[in-house]
Amino acid sequence: MNTSDRPALEIRGLRIHLPGTGRPVLDGIDLTVAGGETVALVGESGSGKSLTARSALRLLPPGATAEGTVLVDGHDVLTLDAARLRALRTGTVAMVFQDPRAAVNPLRRIGDFLTESVCLTRTMTAAQARTRAVELLEAVGLDASALAKYPNQVSGGMLQRVVIAAALMGDPALLLADEPTTALDVTTQAEVVALLGRLRERFGTGLLFVTHDLDLAAAISDRVYVMYAGRIAESGPADEIFERPRHPYTAALLASTPRLANTRGRLAAIEGRPPDLRAALPGCAFAARCALATELCERQAPLPLPAPGLPAHQAACHHSDRLGRTAIDV
Ligand SMILES: Nc1ncnc2c1ncn2[C@@H]1O[C@H](COP(=O)(O)OP(=O)(O)O)[C@@H](O)[C@H]1O
Ligand SMILES: [Mg+2]
Repeated sequence: MNTSDRPALEIRGLRIHLPGTGRPVLDGIDLTVAGGETVALVGESGSGKSLTARSALRLLPPGATAEGTVLVDGHDVLTLDAARLRALRTGTVAMVFQDPRAAVNPLRRIGDFLTESVCLTRTMTAAQARTRAVELLEAVGLDASALAKYPNQVSGGMLQRVVIAAALMGDPALLLADEPTTALDVTTQAEVVALLGRLRERFGTGLLFVTHDLDLAAAISDRVYVMYAGRIAESGPADEIFERPRHPYTAALLASTPRLANTRGRLAAIEGRPPDLRAALPGCAFAARCALATELCERQAPLPLPAPGLPAHQAACHHSDRLGRTAIDV
């Protein structure tokens, strides 16, 4: 259990440059996950969600350079030496990906998969590891009979539960879940989301939940960050973001999500596409697709500013005050 007051994750001013691009692929990201908090990171494909999550493990693409600070449970990830980075990756932070079958070795039993990491790092004896594995299997709704099974003997949803149990073996302060339910059917998705919520309460793990699905984000998170073209467009308490978006991009995303926007099945895709990474981007990244954009937006990138009276709800938009109190079409 993470009982400290330290944030599980604190990213400040993170810029990641990739070779051959005209601007940073992550362009000044600020993001915090408090101890035991669940934070959703949402945005279209290609907006930089995975890069942001992976920065907590210092898993950067080849040739990438990073500026800024990434603190995980107080550890300065971008400057750790190799031994400490290994310890971080096997203990303090764990990650669950989209496809559980890609995370396991099909030739090894689930019991070995669960215990190998803590046994390798000698955090636990084999007997302690087995006891912990059974405890976690039960916490994710399975039981000890799963230990002897091979991955192909269980369903995708069950295997994702096993992967989540394995992620919790080292008692991480931070769990990164990158589209962890995208490969599952809708019923199983809901179960896995409910499970992650229960585990957060029981183990006190901070959770960064990456998804392009606003319904899932609304179902699971305390707070939300909306990402667009490598920048944070809007952040704040989940109910605030979904009920009173302050950024036209969030409003457009909500309008294209039928259930949340209550638009009875009408699915309005957002017209246009995100800006090309090769070009510099002096203004707002969303300007070319935004109905509210003015000459100022093309020229000057907006800084995140709090909504009046709501310091925790920030939007990087020159025209936030022109958005109504409900999701609008822009
Ligand atoms: N390994 C890589 N090499 C080159 N470009 C990458 C790599 N990983 C991601 N990118 C680029 O970084 C941007 C953000 O990617 P990503 O974080 O995967 O987005 P998301 O998870 O939101 O779909 C994309 O434009 C993508 O093309
Ligand atoms: Mg991704």
